[in-house]
Amino acid sequence: MSDKNFKSRLKELQIEVNHELEGYIKVLDVPEKKLQEAMKYSLMAGGKRLRPILMIATCLLFKENYDVCIPYFVAMEMVHNFSLIHDDLPAIDNDDFRHGKPTNHKAFGESTAILAGDALLNQAYITISNDLLMEKNMDMINLKIKAFNEFSKEVYQMMIGEFVDIECEGKDIDVELLKYMHKNKTGALIKESVRIGALLGEASLDELERLTHYAEKIGLAFQIKDDILSEIGDEKKMGKPVGNDREKNKVTFVTKYGLSESQRMLNNIINEANMEIEEFGDKGWFLKELALYIKNREC
Ligand code: IPE
Ligand code: IPE
Ligand code: MG
Ligand code: MG
Repeated sequence: MSDKNFKSRLKELQIEVNHELEGYIKVLDVPEKKLQEAMKYSLMAGGKRLRPILMIATCLLFKENYDVCIPYFVAMEMVHNFSLIHDDLPAIDNDDFRHGKPTNHKAFGESTAILAGDALLNQAYITISNDLLMEKNMDMINLKIKAFNEFSKEVYQMMIGEFVDIECEGKDIDVELLKYMHKNKTGALIKESVRIGALLGEASLDELERLTHYAEKIGLAFQIKDDILSEIGDEKKMGKPVGNDREKNKVTFVTKYGLSESQRMLNNIINEANMEIEEFGDKGWFLKELALYIKNREC
């Protein structure tokens, strides 16, 4: 498939994900308009929607449509945006810009930002549990409970990663700890997005395992690329500050290995990830392109 096909399919899926998110945010109608506005501000700010699209693409390896995944990718994107709102707070990264706009606390104040983050996190659980309550098919109920359980655990792992990140600021950590931090902070939600797509797509255990390997690799690759972009990215394209990892004395792949070695590692990991997808033949083209997109992205 050509690069043009990939780009148009990616755009199409981003629009579809945004449409679903719009639908869910509408029903979060609360009398407290400022809280709702703050939640919507971050959720609809223009993220790449990588996690939902990974879930959809994985599910489509096995099913004709991705309807079964909708509440799960909505929840995933809610949690992701909760994590970004809190990550930007003065007590954590103290950043003023995200998606080319003032961060949530800059736009709404710190207390509203904290609560909007908390509210998005809880809405994620409400969204999934509502779907569970409506499911009638016993096999699907079991798969969905498993997905819910894994989702909750990986959200917790993401928080552990954030904690380790903050604790390690300014310290010279070794590569093992750096990888552990990334595996949790960034890798957990990326891996789980793929796993939920596979679980709800009713993949076999072998297929689930193969896709988990792919997801672990692209999760690490995503973070290596993030470290590279944090050094040499274009602030305008990124819509968030560049150079802040170095300012905060954070150990990253780039500070450990240098730019060209980090780039070489990134290329290798993406190749390894895509080898896991070979088994799926032509159907796997979009997941392979997504891995290349993670490697080549500019924001
Ligand atoms: C940014 O993630 C935060 C990290 C986990 C490193 P994304 O780059 O996927 O965020 P958006 O939603 O597309 O902005
Ligand atoms: C944000 O991580 C990731 C999470 C909140 C889990 P970073 O602090 O490394 O990413 P950016 O640079 O703010 O997007
Ligand atoms: Mg951070
Ligand atoms: Mg940050």
